[in-house]
Amino acid sequence: MNISHNLVELVRATPPLLPVVSDILNESLREISRDQRAGVAFHNHRFGGDPADRQAGATWCERRLGTVIDAGRVVVTNGTQNSLLMLIASLVPPGSVLLTEALSYPQIGILCNLVGATVKSVGIDEFGVVPEDFKRCCEEYRPKAAYLIPTVQNPTATMLPNHRRQQIVAIAREHGVAIIEDDAQACLPPSADAPIASLAPDITWYVLTLSKSTSVGLRIGYFVAPDLRQLEKVYARFKKMSMWFSSPISAILATRWVEDGTANRILGAIRGEMAERHRILKEELTKVSYQSSPNSLHVWIAGASGLRHAAAIAELAGQRGVAVRGWKEFQVAERDSPHGARVSLTAGNRDTLRTGLRRLNAALTTNCS
Ligand SMILES: Cc1ncc(COP(=O)(O)O)c(C=O)c1O
Repeated sequence: MNISHNLVELVRATPPLLPVVSDILNESLREISRDQRAGVAFHNHRFGGDPADRQAGATWCERRLGTVIDAGRVVVTNGTQNSLLMLIASLVPPGSVLLTEALSYPQIGILCNLVGATVKSVGIDEFGVVPEDFKRCCEEYRPKAAYLIPTVQNPTATMLPNHRRQQIVAIAREHGVAIIEDDAQACLPPSADAPIASLAPDITWYVLTLSKSTSVGLRIGYFVAPDLRQLEKVYARFKKMSMWFSSPISAILATRWVEDGTANRILGAIRGEMAERHRILKEELTKVSYQSSPNSLHVWIAGASGLRHAAAIAELAGQRGVAVRGWKEFQVAERDSPHGARVSLTAGNRDTLRTGLRRLNAALTTNCS
């Protein structure tokens, strides 16, 4: 089979391309172009978002946090990486340690390098971060903060059970460790356990992007500080740096979409499409087991799921003309990590996905022991 010219890339975990989003975008941009206030908005910096942007951020985060959020605690940024850079630079001084899951969002390692912090990884299993190992790491490394993705973990798609969330909070409190919780895909499942930020709002910095639930092109993310006093410390370092001020057109769109229910409508469309794509997944990936969460943008094939060559899922897939991301790409610190591969369900249209999954199923089946 000559597959080099029609490689199916199941790589990026961003929402699928939906015509309804293009239609909404066109309509919204037309409306904004007729609004005199847009000119004024382009004349000013948007430091942390204007009051309406912050209120929209509070409203969007409240759907997960389950309580009314003071908009003063909300910061509007250019997305998660922007939020994380500010938080790590403020909470984890050079030379000190940030903990994260043994497989995690790869950019966390890059960000730590930038600010001179060291990443140490905590053991994970099929439920997510292991509390006993989290405790051991707190004792051994005396970290300043932990970056965790408890809900729809990247890359393993796990949901950390509520009792483990409680244990993590208790251990973090005992050791004075701040938690940075990234809830990127948490709006996608119809329901999910409460975030750590709602169990321990006083020690948790809650990070939520619109990239996974609305549109990656908006480049808008929010973070919610534990309180105004702690937020001041972040501002003290970053106040005058315009690199994190969101672009007015993006902020106007995001705020408008949250306020008038459009963001909810887009989220509903993404959820609907992902439910269909999960159905295709179930039909096509029949010979290997995988971890997933409802409507997740990706799933995880653990190396131990009957394959002879556990570490080579990505290579086996590549030979059959389908690209997936191997575990090494998510290893942010040196230590034994679970082997496997992340399979995105969002690329191309449903037919492309079906083709890719069919190839993957064949590639892995013929290599099962
Ligand atoms: C865990 C996690 N957080 C956040 C993001 C999105 O980041 P941004 O808001 O910069 O688009 C991603 C994207 O892959 C991610 O995997």
